[in-house]
This record gives sequence, C-alpha cells and structure tokens, in this order.
Amino acid sequence: MTDKSTDGTANAANWRPATQMVHGGTSRSQFGETSEAMFLTQGFVYDSAEAAEARFKGEDEGFIYSRYANPTVDMFEKRMCALEGAEDARATASGMAAVSASLLCQLKAGDHVVSARALFGSCRWVVETLMPQYGIETTLIDGTDLENWQRAVRPNTKVFFLESPTNPTLEVIDIAGVAKIADAIGAKVVVDNVFATPLYQKPLELGAHIVVYSATKHIDGQGRCLGGIVLSSKDWIDGNLHDYFRHTGPSLSPFNAWTLLKGLETLPLRVRQQTESARKIADHLASLNSIKRVIYPGRPDHPQADLVQKQMSGGSTLVAFEIEGGKAAAFAFENALQIIRISNNLGDAKSLITHPATTTHKNLAEEARAELGITDATVRLSIGLEDADDLIADIDRALAAT
Ligand SMILES: Cc1ncc(COP(=O)(O)O)c(C=O)c1O
Repeated sequence: MTDKSTDGTANAANWRPATQMVHGGTSRSQFGETSEAMFLTQGFVYDSAEAAEARFKGEDEGFIYSRYANPTVDMFEKRMCALEGAEDARATASGMAAVSASLLCQLKAGDHVVSARALFGSCRWVVETLMPQYGIETTLIDGTDLENWQRAVRPNTKVFFLESPTNPTLEVIDIAGVAKIADAIGAKVVVDNVFATPLYQKPLELGAHIVVYSATKHIDGQGRCLGGIVLSSKDWIDGNLHDYFRHTGPSLSPFNAWTLLKGLETLPLRVRQQTESARKIADHLASLNSIKRVIYPGRPDHPQADLVQKQMSGGSTLVAFEIEGGKAAAFAFENALQIIRISNNLGDAKSLITHPATTTHKNLAEEARAELGITDATVRLSIGLEDADDLIADIDRALAAT
C-alpha cells in the first residue's frame, strides 16, 4: 500500500496553486485525520536518553521544541514552500517578525542595504532606524527607477529590500530588473510580497532570493490571527536564518499556523473575488468627479501598467485614491461609510478603509510622505467579500454626505 500520510509534501510541486493551497504540506498522524491536526505542544518526549541525544545531533529528524519547529507549523511552512517554489521556510509570529528576521539574520555591522523607500511604516522603521543602530548602513531610493538601485550600490552592499505593490500607493517595482543588478554584485534581494499575495506574483521565479509575507493579511484572510513567513533556498535558510530563528524565537504559534492552513484553502476563491470587486470599485471611483486620482494595478492608467502585466498574474484587492477636499473630506468620507469599516488592517473578508497619513504612515516626515505620493487626501481601501454593488452604494452614499 502507498504511504499517503505525507502526500501533501511528496507531490505538491507538480500541482497547480489551488490544489497546493488545499493539500500542500499535509502530514497526517496515525489517526488519518482529514483536516490538519493542531499540535498544541511546547515540547516532544524521547523514548530514551540515546534518542534525545540522536535528535539533538541531527541524526534523527523528529521535533525537539516548538520554538524550533512544530508539526502544525511545519505543514504551513511546507504548504507555503510548494506554493512559492521555495526549498525551505520559517513561519513567524507576525509579518514584522518575518521582515526583521529576514534582514537581521544575514546582515552585520559594516554591511550596506539598499531599500525602496515606499515601505509599510514598520518596515521603513526597521530599515531607516533600527538597522543603523547596529552599524548597518542603509540607503532609501525611489525603487521604481532601476537606475537608482544601480547608483546606490557600494562595495559593502549585501541586501536589496522592496515591497511590490507598495503600501499604500500600490507602486510596482521591477523585481527581475532589481535581481539582475543584485546578482551582478552578489547581493540578496528580499521581497515583501504581501500586497501581491502568493497567487499573483512569484518573486523567486523573478530572480529574488528571499520572500517574506505578513500571513496576517490575505493568507488568514478573515482577520483572526497574526502570522508571517520567510521563504528561500535551503542553503540560505541553513546558512542564515536557521540559528537566528532558533535562538531569538520569533516562532509562530501552532494554533495560528492551523488557522493559516485553513485560510490558504480558500485563498484563491477569496482573492479572485476580492480582486474582481476591487477592479469594479476602482473603475467606478475613476468615473467620479469627486475623486482626484485612483491607483489600481490592473487599470491602464496605473503608473507602471506594463510592468503589472509582465510581472503579476492578477491585479489587487486594494485600491488607493485621493478625495477632492483634503484631510477634512477624507475623514468625513470615512466617517460616513456604513459597510466599509475604518481600520489599518487589510486582506480581510470585511472591507476596510485606512487614512495612511494619520495612521500606518504617520511616523514619516511630511516630505517623505509626499515623495511616496501619500497626501492628506489619500485613502487606501481593502476590498472584502461583500457584494461589490453594496460597497459601491456605500461609497456613493458616503461621498454624497461628504
Ligand atoms: C507590506 C506589509 N509588510 C509587513 C506588514 C507587517 O505585518 P504584521 O502586521 O503581520 O506584522 C504589513 C502590515 O500591514 C504590511 O502591509
């Protein structure tokens, strides 16, 4: 009889994404459960002192301690590896734990990092404030112009860091172009792929070396738990992240890993539906006089429309736009919405609206916000799973009241 207990690991590389998201990484216990088992355990017991010694020596592959690895977390890591085309991964307690681990584990004092300046607020703090405290030099650039990456290179440049599409103004950066420049100098490219989701963009295929996610967003997709993941080659994980991860402990809880496994099962259905609605809402907003500017990857008026076509296999579940009338109008609009709720989160089943200048990007100086195209009138809309026509009616009602 064939052993089907780990069928989700053995065959996943050959499956299409929707199948990988349901079965990838599945490892069944002796009970043959249908749904993934939740192993809420801190540690593991050994049959003998010799067995414990063998496991610590690495002669036996079993689990040691859930800070290092856990069977439920392992299933989540393997499912994400299959989906991403990565050889190995470490799941983390949040997206920020993934971002900071992916950078700090491979950098030391005296190294130099080039980063796109359009980053989620906390990512920018890690690059701009935290890393220089440890002697790591950083240069922030407009990442949409490939020449800026080349110009920023120094003899000690070790890492290029970017997110694409960016939070919140949905700029798209040429990952393959950046990877080519990095490869020429032996630097590593780390891509925060949160906004694209694992469905629409494959950074490793485009030449990036490390991919990070906040699994808190579309991977959970129902606003329940925090999580993150770093994916790369086995060599890079073994040589950089393995020890950092074990000894600093940003580990994901097995309960959250289980929730994220369940989230992945429905990700393609949710994200495609949310994208379809987002596209409809973006087109509607673009037709209104009260809206100054709409940014939506997938619309022909997106600043990098050609690159979106080349690099991404889908649009976005997010729309950014500017309302005529500045901050007062943006606040009045948000306050008048009834279905869409005000929140800094995204990728949820519930539609959420954010005013980045006063929330997620409030710590940036006004000039830095202006460089990123974040004005007092900019709002970011994360489209949920409600009926798109109800959301359009909510937007129209709120605009009329503004
Ligand atoms: C692009 C991006 N990266 C990283 C994060 C951080 O994720 P988490 O909140 O799970 O730590 C976020 C959160 O909003 C984000 O938007």
